[in-house]
Amino acid sequence: MSKYQSVRGTRDLLPSLKKTFRAIDQTAFQTAQKYGFNEIETPIFEFSDVFHRSLGETSDAVSKETYTFQDRGGDSITLRPEGTAGVVRSFVSEGLAQLIPLKLYYYGPMFRYERPQKGRYRQFYQFGVEVLGLETPLADIECLDLAWNVLKKLNLSERCTLEINTLGDTESRDAYRKALVEFLTPLKSQLSADSQVRLEKNPMRILDSKDENDKKLILKAPLMQNFLNEKSKDFFAKVIQGLEQLKIPYKINPKLVRGLDYYCHTVFEFTTTELGAQSAILSGGRYDGLVEMLGGPKTAGVGWAAGVDRLADLCESTLAHPKEEVVFGFAAIGARAEIEALRIGSQLVARGKKCVSLHNGTLKKKLEKISKLTADATTVYGVLLFDQDNGSIEIKLKNFVTGEEKVVTVEDILKL
Ligand code: HAM
Repeated sequence: MSKYQSVRGTRDLLPSLKKTFRAIDQTAFQTAQKYGFNEIETPIFEFSDVFHRSLGETSDAVSKETYTFQDRGGDSITLRPEGTAGVVRSFVSEGLAQLIPLKLYYYGPMFRYERPQKGRYRQFYQFGVEVLGLETPLADIECLDLAWNVLKKLNLSERCTLEINTLGDTESRDAYRKALVEFLTPLKSQLSADSQVRLEKNPMRILDSKDENDKKLILKAPLMQNFLNEKSKDFFAKVIQGLEQLKIPYKINPKLVRGLDYYCHTVFEFTTTELGAQSAILSGGRYDGLVEMLGGPKTAGVGWAAGVDRLADLCESTLAHPKEEVVFGFAAIGARAEIEALRIGSQLVARGKKCVSLHNGTLKKKLEKISKLTADATTVYGVLLFDQDNGSIEIKLKNFVTGEEKVVTVEDILKL
């Protein structure tokens, strides 16, 4: 075994898995584009403050999971644990406010120092969408519909459940937080160490605790829905009505609070029971205060991100990859034939054809390899080239689907 292994929690996306990733991101890109979203790419690292300010000091993502280091200039830098903070930082620092409403999508690696397990990696990939500058619940509904359509295209919609909740506006959340603290304070000593800290800093995160004893204690906790003001109730009712009208199945989960601090109003997760403990495959919500938190003008925001690793783990065996129309496999015997094969192949590639050149092994081995190309193509032509004693090259064309074989010229091949 090599002394060098990939770092724990990271993995190589070998060709077959990468093919699945590519199929997923292409599906997501194309669907987002059809909804009028445009792609944005922000750096994979930012000043640490960007994440501290936006995700919240007490969120696990910031307090325990960031890859943070000091660069050679002495700045504190963090590898992005998620995409929203960077997009919002860009919105503010690039002065994009004049362009609202903005509908953006992105794709790329994210980094969290979490305990690796099935479906949980330290470098993982997100496809995400963000809508900036729209306060209306119509934006939430559109984002959810986009998510639903991506999952449908990946044949995953029947294998997951949309769980949705509202955190209300600031006034509703303040009232709820107060009630929650009143309920939990007498139980403080029984809470896990993490939750005791959260009780001081961000009590609503206790509802999200993974600690079994915490879970028992909060069973009787007051529910957010009883503290919503009229405005918040109305907002949520409109989102739900939209889901009904667009026929997107959902389940209201009053305990869903999400792990990041920037959310208000709508929060949601598409979950599956097929990946063990890592049930969320796509999640997001509304974050109306985030732009201001990062120093920009008051701007509404809503979006989500899908864990592409989790989607890939779910659909690696079920996703259909489109077949190539025509593929040429080249097998040459003899020095002149070998270089002629590359010359013809190059011309075919320039004409948009796929060519696979086999440079080693016996003719028999090369033919075996060409016949395997039929798994990914509708028609496979074997182009067999042989040096002749008189200095010429004989070219044979074999259709590997029909078995037909004939002697041809270079021009005959280029016409195919
Ligand atoms: P999040 O729930 O932290 O939200 O992550 C979104 C998705 O990323 C999760 O549903 C999950 O599928 C995937 N994910 C998270 N951590 C891991 C991991 N360690 N390994 C594999 N997959 C993972 C956000 O990141 C928000 N920025 C979403 C958002 C966008 N909200 C509004 N706009």
